[in-house]
Amino acid sequence: MLKLGVLVSGGGTNLQAILDAIDNGNITNAKVEVVISNNRGAYALERAKNHGVRGICISPKQYGSREEFHKALLSELQAAGVDLVVLAGYLVAIPSMIVEAYPNRIINIHPSLIPSFCGVGYYGLRVHEGVLGRGVKVTGATVHFVDAGTDTGPIILQKAVEVQQGDTPEILQKRVMEQAEWKILPRAIDLIANDKVTVTDGKVFVTE
Ligand code: GRF
Repeated sequence: MLKLGVLVSGGGTNLQAILDAIDNGNITNAKVEVVISNNRGAYALERAKNHGVRGICISPKQYGSREEFHKALLSELQAAGVDLVVLAGYLVAIPSMIVEAYPNRIINIHPSLIPSFCGVGYYGLRVHEGVLGRGVKVTGATVHFVDAGTDTGPIILQKAVEVQQGDTPEILQKRVMEQAEWKILPRAIDLIANDKVTVTDGKVFVTE
């Protein structure tokens, strides 16, 4: 049974997609052990509570230094016996000490087709503003392993989504979530939980 630690900062719709997929059998062999938010008011914590999953806030504001915050986050993940860390709308940079503790065991959902519209400064609505500003016709979402960079780790799954005329960033964000994020993040977790994902030379191979 793969123990998941889901890190969140906001509404938690991706967390909800994971919880629902476990309930309906689209994810097997995995369990959400703990939900951790840097934001005490994150609705994602409410979603965890409603689902009977332990949800806690670990915020940099609670600690005297970034180092202490990082250590507290890592020790919580290890105390909970987490096997796979899932960044589901988590807006805090993951420090190298945690990346090193979980090599190819941290995944992130990003709301574009990496390597487009990603990296420092591209998060949330800003991604979709960039997409609309450039006038691309296809966007989508990416699940990737987290390495020391920002949105630079090995790509696990991607799903394309059409950009439509008249889209606003909000409309496009919703379509990318509904048609891509909420599908590929649970699927990636199910593949990893069932040992169907390997990484060779920075490339991901999936065995169906
Ligand atoms: C989503 O757009 C996700 O792609 C990005 O942050 C947003 C989080 O949404 N990483 P939610 O908290 O999962 O609803």
